[in-house]
Amino acid sequence: MEKIRVNLKKQIDNSYDIIIGENLLNKIPKELKQRPLANKYIIITDSNVEKQYGDILLKEMKKNGLKTYLISFKAGEKSKTRKTKEIIENRMMEYDLGRDTLVIAVGGGVVGDIAGFVAATYYRGISYIQVPTTLLAFADSSIGGKTAVNTGFGKNLIGAFHQPKRVYIDTTTLKTLPKKEMKNGIAETIKHAVIKDKGFFRYLEKNVKQLIKKDPVVIEYITKRNCEIKAKIVEMDEKEKGQRKILNYGHTIGHAIEAASNYKMTHGNAVALGMVAAVKISIELGYMSMKDMIRQNNLIEAAKLPVILPDISIENIIKAMRYDKKIIDDKIMFVLPKKIGDVFFTDEVSLKLVKKVLDELKVKKVNNQ
Ligand code: NAD
Ligand code: GLY
Repeated sequence: MEKIRVNLKKQIDNSYDIIIGENLLNKIPKELKQRPLANKYIIITDSNVEKQYGDILLKEMKKNGLKTYLISFKAGEKSKTRKTKEIIENRMMEYDLGRDTLVIAVGGGVVGDIAGFVAATYYRGISYIQVPTTLLAFADSSIGGKTAVNTGFGKNLIGAFHQPKRVYIDTTTLKTLPKKEMKNGIAETIKHAVIKDKGFFRYLEKNVKQLIKKDPVVIEYITKRNCEIKAKIVEMDEKEKGQRKILNYGHTIGHAIEAASNYKMTHGNAVALGMVAAVKISIELGYMSMKDMIRQNNLIEAAKLPVILPDISIENIIKAMRYDKKIIDDKIMFVLPKKIGDVFFTDEVSLKLVKKVLDELKVKKVNNQ
């Protein structure tokens, strides 16, 4: 018998910069000209963002002599499929793009997730940069290297961890973002404050009105703080073996509410309700104080996010949690807050308790009872 060892032990440096500022779209091509990341560039975007920002970037890239193409797909979560990925990849091959190509994802989380996944597998993996244009993508999806598409069996089930080479956050792009989409990012921002930073939470309490109005100073600050918090968690646990799971705060019940509403409820609204339910569970188990629960829920309300569950069947929410494999032996793994800025994992939450809390969420505010 012979034995041959394949030695693959190595240290990899996947570190990257997140650059935050105003009017960056004009600056990216100049930077890429000075410090090229590839010989060819492909901008991947969606039908809304193409007109507003994709075309501007394409023009600037060409003006700077960078060989650049653009592919866009129909905007919306429904496009986040293997089919869209295949169409993009085929177009890239028609354009004769090889390993010397850099993908530039310009858009919200849908674009970032598909474009990142294309980059992860095209020619066995090429580089990409993220140019997010929604608050949710500024705060969450553009950082951390999770890329994926949805299938009929659920969201984000096929994907890869593939870190971007750089993230450029042009805060001016938020000017055109509809209010409804802003709220999705605000919910994730509140999540970051509750899981990691009571000082940031206080800042949000003071500035939530300005945030809703897209005050540039507030947008710049919360973007920076969101990125710092997410980056620290990803640095500790890039592949979500443990600590990164705290980013799912509010999502265990939130995802189930979203699914049970047939995706009529927005992600931000569902996550807000998921956070309201989680603090209530934490109170019931004797961890969180009423004072902190009231503070969280007041901030959620001030952000114009819901604290009362609309007419969605609780049975369907539970069904969605089962489908999502969140329930094992009638117990559910939860991220719960102990206080503002400090969360923990537990598997001691019973299905009975979740049902009770959801019932209460339907009939009255869980704040002042
Ligand atoms: P999205 O990408 O669908 O964007 C929302 C809408 O806003 C779209 O219609 C889009 O065309 C439009 N839009 C984008 N930027 C705009 C702008 N500046 N002005 C006007 N319109 C604009 O949604 P999203 O909320 O950004 O992202 C949701 C997706 O992100 C989900 O698929 C979710 O699974 C994923 N996600 C991924 C991660 C991750 O770590 N990879 C984290 C959180 C969420
Ligand atoms: N949005 C959750 C994560 O990036 O892990």
